[in-house]
Amino acid sequence: MSTILEVAGMSASIGSQQVVESVSFSVPDTGITAVLGRNGVGKTSTLRGILGLIKRKGEVTLAGERIDGLPTHRIVQRGVGYVPEDREVFASLTVAENLALAERQANPRRDFVAHLFPDLVERRAQMAGTLSGGQQQMVSVARALLNDNRLLLVDEPTKGLAPRIVNEVAGALEEASRTVPILLVEQNLEVVKRLAKDAIVIDGGRVVHRGDAREILGDEELTRRLLGVHGDAPADGHGTEERA
Ligand SMILES: Nc1ncnc2c1ncn2[C@@H]1O[C@H](COP(=O)(O)OP(=O)(O)OP(=O)(O)O)[C@@H](O)[C@H]1O
Ligand SMILES: [Mg+2]
Repeated sequence: MSTILEVAGMSASIGSQQVVESVSFSVPDTGITAVLGRNGVGKTSTLRGILGLIKRKGEVTLAGERIDGLPTHRIVQRGVGYVPEDREVFASLTVAENLALAERQANPRRDFVAHLFPDLVERRAQMAGTLSGGQQQMVSVARALLNDNRLLLVDEPTKGLAPRIVNEVAGALEEASRTVPILLVEQNLEVVKRLAKDAIVIDGGRVVHRGDAREILGDEELTRRLLGVHGDAPADGHGTEERA
């Protein structure tokens, strides 16, 4: 197996505060790699550092080429897709308009996206702001999947969703991961067990553990210490905002 993304000694800061401290890890070019860690440890900042959305130092290499000196739009052009933590759909645009705005290439993968999210096809004329949280998440994931990316960075896609919707979003990511490697920040450990092969655990802005995801979650002591929960319980402290 080869590596699609290599992060070596990357630090990142927001204003004057360093929020990521010299993290190093690699992401294989197939399947889903999870980023785990308690609230506020720097998971989102790690993704934003890779994308150059916050100031960073250190080496980031995508498919053998350094991208840490590039501005965000160039990194995106090289094939890094981003599904941000708060979905960021355009509330006053329709589903179809949200998707059309995301298309970067001449032959976007519309059929693939329609196959993954039939619900969005039915709702194409609906204003995105009137969709449920789960449907908005699907729009957000769909936008990234329209393009032929080399890597997707996906931040807490199941946060606050009802169990049935969590399942649906997880299923879509699982299917998507057969076509593109995914670096996934996820606090729902059942979803991690289902989807991820390897996991990286972050604490205090540093990588403190790395290994097989199921092995990490099967280690009660480690899970309690690094994630603050038992591996069989959801770590999601955000609660469920929505019902099925
Ligand atoms: N806009 C900001 N300004 C200042 N500090 C910030 C900002 N955003 C995040 N931070 C700080 O950076 C640190 C890392 O935050 P980050 O959002 O990367 O963590 P996270 O692991 O993604 O957390 P969560 O589980 O809540 O999503 C935290 O201490 C947080 O308070
Ligand atoms: Mg976050």
